[in-house]
Amino acid sequence: MVKIGASILSANYGHLEEEVKRVERAGVDFIHIDVMDGHFVPNISMGIGIANYVKSITSLPTEVHLMVEHPEMFIPMFGDMDMITFHIESCRFPFRTINLIKERDSKPVVALNPSTPLNTLEYILEEIYGVLVMTVEPGFSGQKFIPQMLGKIERLRRLIDREGYNVQIFVDGGINLENAPKVVEAGADALISASAIFNTGDVEEAVRRLREAVKSVKL
Ligand code: DX5
Ligand code: ZN
Repeated sequence: MVKIGASILSANYGHLEEEVKRVERAGVDFIHIDVMDGHFVPNISMGIGIANYVKSITSLPTEVHLMVEHPEMFIPMFGDMDMITFHIESCRFPFRTINLIKERDSKPVVALNPSTPLNTLEYILEEIYGVLVMTVEPGFSGQKFIPQMLGKIERLRRLIDREGYNVQIFVDGGINLENAPKVVEAGADALISASAIFNTGDVEEAVRRLREAVKSVKL
């Protein structure tokens, strides 16, 4: 079954615990924590304090999405997160960074910006837990899904299946009820969403509808 990750970037920060409990009740599979440094992306979001807090109040797996320069610098402090996602564009030594993550007993996920080609993954694919395909330019929630990314997800799916790698495809950015079935059909294993979950007024209903929308997709 396709997994759903709730990105707390669009949550109400004044009631973070309630928001996390709400998505838990709604049955999401993991919590996605967006960390931005104001350099790699033109925005600043949350850091280790919030990540640790979220970890302390949820039993769900946590995935931290590092949209930062020098991701290797931050790995030690995020070592308690279940998955650590870093961008290939900001990492000069991906093998070293992947090993740092594994040494912390966390799972390495590599993120690609929309215009970054899949061949950047060629030598690291067998070393990682997942690939996170960005379907908007990173930095903000509430942006529009870039349609060309469907073909990219399809090609990545074919590559992973052909080589027999055990790698999960995460898709992040602009997911909504309309494009979610197409994204799953293209080969995604996990959908990450902020605004389509938190900006709807009814979080539980939003997650239920998202699940419903992808349930009938024939793979
Ligand atoms: C964007 C973040 C996403 C974002 C998704 O830079 O990485 O995780 O929160 O937000 P939506 O689902 O609203 O596009
Ligand atoms: Zn993200």
